[in-house]
Amino acid sequence: MNTTIETLLGHRSIRKFTKQQLEPEQLDTILKSGLAASSSSLLQVVSIIRVTDKNKRAQLSELAGNQPYVATAAEFLVFCIDYHRHKVINPNVNSDYTELALIGAIDAGIMAQNCLIAAESLGLGGVYIGGLRNNAQKVDELLELPSDTAVLFGMCLGYPAQDPELKPRLPQSVLVHENGYQPVDLNLISEYDQVMHKYYAGRSSNAKQSSWSAQITNKLAGESRPHILGYLNHKGLVQR
Ligand SMILES: Cc1cc2nc3c(=O)[nH]c(=O)nc-3n(C[C@H](O)[C@H](O)[C@H](O)COP(=O)(O)O)c2cc1C
Repeated sequence: MNTTIETLLGHRSIRKFTKQQLEPEQLDTILKSGLAASSSSLLQVVSIIRVTDKNKRAQLSELAGNQPYVATAAEFLVFCIDYHRHKVINPNVNSDYTELALIGAIDAGIMAQNCLIAAESLGLGGVYIGGLRNNAQKVDELLELPSDTAVLFGMCLGYPAQDPELKPRLPQSVLVHENGYQPVDLNLISEYDQVMHKYYAGRSSNAKQSSWSAQITNKLAGESRPHILGYLNHKGLVQR
């Protein structure tokens, strides 16, 4: 065990923050850590919009489905897939392949996770905000995103004002397969459901009676932001 591993294993999303601001050097280190991440073919198809304008923050908080920490966190970063830069360099390059959107989403996720881990290693906390995609087009307009650029998710960062429990994950033996895909072991899932039931019932905030299977059924039974395909198409992405 070393401090890097301790930071990784100690991760919890933080949704309540003190008013304390980050030192400029801290933010710089977090962003540098993000930019140091691996990038497919070094395409670097990500833009980060740091939102400091209070009015825009309030609007984003609402557009993300009324998530108050979007407005109250010391920092709010919006991660975008960005092929606009590449088109400015050369208008003839392609940006509309689905593969290129996957590259952008993967690279942005890797970059963002570097930022979050860097922040956590500095004693800060944070949470991703996929809720921005609830109103992707409005967020896009608010942040004045050009064509070939699209909003992916946000990230709140700041000093934690809460100390939530670690959220248990599926056992390694469910997620990690050797040499080929193994059948789903429902006994292991059932054991995990019991672990999660206990976690949900006993956690210090937002306690509830539920299980992981119940949660995912609820989440996946309905639509998943069906407007996103049209949004990405409209931005010149995911067309073939
Ligand atoms: C891409 C992404 C988007 C997320 N969006 C939100 C969000 O909009 N609001 C929120 O409160 N949490 C959001 N989360 C946080 C997850 O709910 C959280 O990571 C998950 O429940 C596991 O909990 P933990 O991070 O505390 O371990 C998001 C996480 C990811 C990776």
